[in-house]
Amino acid sequence: MCPLHQTSLYLFLVILAFRIDLSQVPPSVSLIINPAGFPECLAVGGISPSEISWIPESDNVTTRREMEQKMWIVISIYRAQIIPGREVTCNVSHPTFTHPQILTIVIPDLLVSVLAGSTGLLHCPHNPGDTLIMMTWWIHCLYKPPCLISVTTENRSFNNCSERIIRENLSLKILKTQITDTGKYSCGMVNAHGTFQTSFMLHVLVPPSVSLTINPAGFPECWAVSGIPDPEISWIPESDTVTTRKETAPDTTWTVISTYRAQIIPGREVTCNVSHPTFTHPQILTIVIPVRSINYVRWTVIPALLLLLIAAVFWSWKSPSCR
Ligand SMILES: *[C@@H]1O[C@H](CO)[C@@H](O)[C@H](O)[C@H]1NC(C)=O
Ligand SMILES: *[C@@H]1O[C@H](CO)[C@@H](O)[C@H](O)[C@H]1NC(C)=O
Ligand SMILES: *[C@@H]1O[C@H](CO)[C@@H](O)[C@H](O)[C@H]1NC(C)=O
Ligand SMILES: *[C@@H]1O[C@H](CO)[C@@H](O)[C@H](O)[C@H]1NC(C)=O
Ligand SMILES: *[C@@H]1O[C@H](CO)[C@@H](O)[C@H](O)[C@H]1NC(C)=O
Ligand SMILES: *[C@@H]1O[C@H](CO)[C@@H](O)[C@H](O)[C@H]1NC(C)=O
Repeated sequence: MCPLHQTSLYLFLVILAFRIDLSQVPPSVSLIINPAGFPECLAVGGISPSEISWIPESDNVTTRREMEQKMWIVISIYRAQIIPGREVTCNVSHPTFTHPQILTIVIPDLLVSVLAGSTGLLHCPHNPGDTLIMMTWWIHCLYKPPCLISVTTENRSFNNCSERIIRENLSLKILKTQITDTGKYSCGMVNAHGTFQTSFMLHVLVPPSVSLTINPAGFPECWAVSGIPDPEISWIPESDTVTTRKETAPDTTWTVISTYRAQIIPGREVTCNVSHPTFTHPQILTIVIPVRSINYVRWTVIPALLLLLIAAVFWSWKSPSCR
């Protein structure tokens, strides 16, 4: 068989296999309260983007769709004001789902953020006076089974949480916080006047590591690696030709890579500005555009590839089986 035809057949089969394979991957869906306090619905994966809607409906929703390594990441943030204790539901549809996935979350009373590795402190805001009968903490972290700490006046207690979680009077201390401590914490108190309950959303934040380099194509590239929540990158001077990739890792951290594609005169400076809730000030990194880097791809790699292509076509034409 003609080598050119054979090659294209293989190529076609490979592309076909890849397509079929990807289309069968359903997205994984999650719903959280983000560190800013808004419900955030996330669908990662799938060859077509997921459709996300909310109940109750609102105009105050921002939805971002990003293609990452041939998979779609769809992030929808519900920005309407909601009363704590109320439910919000996220409805995710995808061609691979037989039914839409329905996830529901209750808006917490209080939001608490803590830096990974430091001590988290939650204070139950009710004053029990001297009539406390029972106090309970329910802990529901994102990726761990729920656990419970409970004490009664007769000093009967129950605790099946990690030994890093310590109750002190009305407060709860979480020592050496880890990403997996992120989740919902509720305190409940029973005294002579009744039952009181408060829910907390605890976020464990991780500062991203930041760097600025010139990529192989000659463009400045700013990296903010493994942060929670997602780092934000901007450039000085501003430009419309910036491409930003955002990737999420299995440990829920985010990496943001921003490439500045504007033509810049060699010798000039470009500045990347990374902001993150864990930084007291945005991190400012500056790089000088090196001489002879920008047009490297245009003048070397592309012509080389073209030459190779022409040679390949020429060779297959000369091959007797192609005629
Ligand atoms: C959208 O939500 C934000 C934050 O809750 C609020 O400040 C803003 O007024 C809302 N906008 C509309 C149109 O409801
Ligand atoms: C979820 O969305 C789908 C498609 O938009 C719709 O058909 C379905 O009725 C919705 N489900 C709920 C519970 O709203
Ligand atoms: C702790 O105990 C509660 C109540 O019995 C149970 O629902 C929960 O699964 C237990 N959690 C762990 C981590 O053992
Ligand atoms: C309950 O425990 C506290 C501290 O652990 C102790 O001071 C107190 O005497 C105990 N009360 C009873 C009734 O055992
Ligand atoms: C717990 O409360 C008692 C009485 O209100 C107080 O004396 C004690 O110092 C508190 N313990 C801690 C660790 O805060
Ligand atoms: C960096 O970005 C932050 C947030 O967008 C902004 O507040 C700050 O002014 C910027 N810093 C500089 C030097 O542009």
